[in-house]
Amino acid sequence: MMKVGPAHLAQSPLFDGVPSEGVEIAEQALRMLVFEPGQTVFEAGDRGHALYLIESGRVKISHTNLDDREKVLAYLNAGEVFGEMSLVDDAPRSATATVVEPAVIHALYLEEYWGLVRRFPQVAHNLARIIAHRLREMNHEVEVLTFEEARGKVAYALLKLYRHRYGEATPRGRRMPLTHREVADLAGTSRETATRVLGQFIEMGLVGSGSRAIEVLDPAGLENVLYDL
Ligand code: CMP
Repeated sequence: MMKVGPAHLAQSPLFDGVPSEGVEIAEQALRMLVFEPGQTVFEAGDRGHALYLIESGRVKISHTNLDDREKVLAYLNAGEVFGEMSLVDDAPRSATATVVEPAVIHALYLEEYWGLVRRFPQVAHNLARIIAHRLREMNHEVEVLTFEEARGKVAYALLKLYRHRYGEATPRGRRMPLTHREVADLAGTSRETATRVLGQFIEMGLVGSGSRAIEVLDPAGLENVLYDL
């Protein structure tokens, strides 16, 4: 088992306010896993008794419906946690986790998690905070998907990725590897609608378009579209 540096771990919201002794104990308990793009950490419906901490790389959390259409729930980056829901409620995995950029991920199993929480209850509070934050984000997303027109939905999808620091910073904004199909799956629109809206956003100077990528140039402008300002 390889170890991850405590300084790195301490940056995860799971360890906010946890004394360094607690972070060191967590470090002993973690199992390091290395993934290549395209590999799944787990699939929706699997049983699972571990949560995962991303040291580096990027993980896509998604659902595929019976027509093989994918809904991306989130892209998660270094420092973020996933898999906490099955750890907490013992139900099957609620979504599939697929690695999209080479990743080093650490698993924390239920028994070790409890050992840690008994000594450092702050860890459980931090996990509750992470779940509360995701619920807020989902409530907002439900509102957008229910009430917004296509433009609002596409603006929201791009902003969500932007805030999760998806892709890479450029001098003009942030370049996010995305096809129009992927934008459509994130926004819950057809591919044709996503393409039409992206064309409008390009004309408005909100985004730029490259090969299989979208560059967000004006996040404040996208927010104006979302909130009809
Ligand atoms: P779990 O159900 O164990 O496995 C799938 C994981 O995806 C889930 O835990 C969460 O960690 C994560 N997840 C599920 N829904 C969302 C969401 N809407 N946003 C971010 N992460 C999510």
